[in-house]
Amino acid sequence: MSLQSLVPGPEPKVTSRVSTGAEGRCRVALAGFGTVGRSAARLLQDAAREVELVAILNRDVDRKRVDWVDGAVRWTDSIEEVLDRPIDVFIELIGGRSPAEDWIRRALARGISVVTANKQVIARDGASLLDAAAANDCHLRFEAAVAGGVPVIRAIESGLAGDRLTRVAGILNGTCNYILTKMEREGTAFADALREAQALGYAEANPSQDIDGFDAQAKLAILAMVALGIQAPPDAIATRSIATVDGVDFRYARRLGCTIRQIAWAERNGDLELCAGVGPTLVPLESPLAAVNGSENLVSIQGRFGGETTFGGRGAGGDPTAVAVLSDVLTIARGARPAVRPRAERSARVSSDAATPYYVRFTVVDRPGIIAALASVFAKYEINIDAILQEPGFPASQRPFIVSLDAAPSAAVNAALAEIGAFDFHLVPMLAMPVLDGRAPAEVTA
Ligand code: NAP
Ligand code: HSE
Repeated sequence: MSLQSLVPGPEPKVTSRVSTGAEGRCRVALAGFGTVGRSAARLLQDAAREVELVAILNRDVDRKRVDWVDGAVRWTDSIEEVLDRPIDVFIELIGGRSPAEDWIRRALARGISVVTANKQVIARDGASLLDAAAANDCHLRFEAAVAGGVPVIRAIESGLAGDRLTRVAGILNGTCNYILTKMEREGTAFADALREAQALGYAEANPSQDIDGFDAQAKLAILAMVALGIQAPPDAIATRSIATVDGVDFRYARRLGCTIRQIAWAERNGDLELCAGVGPTLVPLESPLAAVNGSENLVSIQGRFGGETTFGGRGAGGDPTAVAVLSDVLTIARGARPAVRPRAERSARVSSDAATPYYVRFTVVDRPGIIAALASVFAKYEINIDAILQEPGFPASQRPFIVSLDAAPSAAVNAALAEIGAFDFHLVPMLAMPVLDGRAPAEVTA
């Protein structure tokens, strides 16, 4: 597909994309004056020695005006007006795929560098947008799209460029981590913790993106492209929701020496396979992942020669994310050449097959013979039971207990759970989670 077929009409190129604003400053326009956009505007104004904020775009822009933004800044709801101005960098912070992707493409087609926090666009269209940026000799930078304020893309592209990276894993969603740590440490109900995360500006406009794993799925697809050199459609990465995790799961997890975190992992298996998944996972209490608190993220990168390197920090929220945005702008303003990225492999198969231990929670209307029925199905699939735990004090009409399983292939566990799911004693659907034991956690469907 030619570059021109991707845009509505020929985009006039700016005559110069070198910083030529007042006193040689880099001229920047910002689209999206929400949680991240507001914080970014403040930081851009603080960086006024190097950067000149010239325009702010938002729909129905009049309700967005604030008096702390410099009076010379143009407020508008027209993308044409923004792109027609002589700007060096277009910052996209509106979120969602459309019209964000189109706006980014149009800016790049004019030779305007782009900085974005939009993981959905970069995960799906990043490769072709990077091609467009390269064709127009400008930057497309997206540090803020992965792990908020943690400079992990930069680290992969510079500090770890000399290694051959084989695995990325960790905590990539601040909202989920905030909810799970609130449930674990303060016994907060899921819905209350989610409301708090929204009020703090961590959650996506549609919080299902966070709790059902799609936000981390998109971030993982970006990391797979940048770190592992594999271009995977995000939808091919299996996800499980944290919405079915209950307070009782933390009690049982602790008895197994674990807590619960949303873990994302992707591993390169030769040139032709990416094993990847996102979902709630039991994490040993002594693991660094168990110590990740609130909206923090932790990304661990495995290299063939350098071993494991870990990056952590604030993964969500206006200010930390705006730091990543401004850092990308300053990289451009200070005259760096656009990054040259090796082309990512497009034809790799995406799977989530692995053999790991599992935690399975059952909530049943109790009666004799339930354990025997479960045990016979697990035995049929050659899955060994490690432990059965049942806390006292629950009524027989609603009794939660858990079975922990020794490491078993995810396909066998899924088949066994499908069979067990058909029994008539379940009060609520089973919750199955992999247990992290140093290997990549497999994905289960229950
Ligand atoms: P937000 O608070 O919802 O802000 C988005 C802003 O863009 C709002 O002011 C919205 O206007 C405006 N907007 C949306 N669609 C528009 C359109 N079609 N035309 C014009 N204006 C439009 O979202 P956010 O939390 O700042 O997130 C922005 C981006 O950063 C997203 O890609 C998100 O994934 C990413 N991100 C967010 C965080 C975080 O912690 N919040 C962290 C990392 C990355 P209205 O007021 O009318 O809705
Ligand atoms: N909603 C996202 C999160 C924002 O909670 O991690 C950062 O991308």
